[in-house]
Amino acid sequence: MMPKNSLSVNKELIPDQPLVERVPFPFKGNSYRYSNNAASLESGRLLDITPEYFEEIELKRHLLETVPDRTYQSLEHSMEAQWEILEMIMNEMASAHPNYFSLNKDGNRWTFINHLLGEEQTFTFGDAQTLPYEPLDFIGRHVQEDLIYLGQRDGDLYLEAGQLAFPANWSLAFDLGMDFLSIHSPVPKAFSGSGLAEKVRGFIMRIEAGKPWTRFNWTITVEPVLDTAPENFDEWGHKKEQVTVDNVGELVYLRVEDQRLFRLPGSNGILFGIHTHLISLDELCKNHQWMNQFYNVLLDLPDELAEYKGFISYKEKIVSYLENKIKISSPI
Ligand code: HEM
Repeated sequence: MMPKNSLSVNKELIPDQPLVERVPFPFKGNSYRYSNNAASLESGRLLDITPEYFEEIELKRHLLETVPDRTYQSLEHSMEAQWEILEMIMNEMASAHPNYFSLNKDGNRWTFINHLLGEEQTFTFGDAQTLPYEPLDFIGRHVQEDLIYLGQRDGDLYLEAGQLAFPANWSLAFDLGMDFLSIHSPVPKAFSGSGLAEKVRGFIMRIEAGKPWTRFNWTITVEPVLDTAPENFDEWGHKKEQVTVDNVGELVYLRVEDQRLFRLPGSNGILFGIHTHLISLDELCKNHQWMNQFYNVLLDLPDELAEYKGFISYKEKIVSYLENKIKISSPI
């Protein structure tokens, strides 16, 4: 085994591919409005392991060590659900990615091996004392996804535990214990004051075990910053002032969250996984269909959404950049 702090042991195991061929594109057509845009998750899998695995795990672990309250929160009664999540994820890791991970079970004595990082952990399933972190925190340190657990009780959903290293400007510490509608209360009225949030809550509460769902959320950000928490707004918020007509293509990124929802049959809660992808506008424009769709979406987007997503001050620069790119790619 390699030393624990060596985070790039087997980089060559993950095949590389250009971002433009693997980042999910969040738009179906030429317009975007809030809706329940969830679709059945055909793969049935939570995890997506990309070439960014090593740098993202390193960053995630660094944040968990340096800003623990911001990145990990749990209520005491989430412990059973946390074990259920750990089991679900370890089973998927070992069955879907046997080159990267293995899991040996000898009764309750389990050994989990991460071959990518050269790490091994033996523990007793169900006994938190045998792991260095709480189960959700432990397994989250091996996956790129942020992991949120929602308890379902009294006809509602409550945020009861989460590991969140890469938030799109929301606070886990602030939202801990909140119900679904309160969590969404900062979102514009088109979602939070129109009855849509209630419908989405009802939809999530009816999700069945073995029938997971997926949806994309998106925003725009400056520089490839994953950790856009409100608590460190002073570090990333001012970056938008750097955007000019000349640098917009390389400085501005589309941020896509691939969100997946699973019913946990044991605890009857919901596991909400969020995998965040970033792609610069220059890179995105290599796909001409995406370039055209994104341009049309932005032209048609209500100001209220651009304001909430935080890019209204430089939206015009993005639109002119895309307009020029489109002209160059199809002259006449
Ligand atoms: C089908 C399921 C869901 C839908 C349709 C949905 C919809 C939305 C929408 C439209 C936004 C605004 C995003 C933007 O404009 O950038 C949002 C934000 C958000 N959603 Fe959801 N959501 C879903 C599930 C969840 C779940 C399960 C959680 C778990 C905690 C969650 C937590 C959040 C948070 C924290 C925000 C940011 C709110 C803030 O500004 O503080 N969502 N959601």
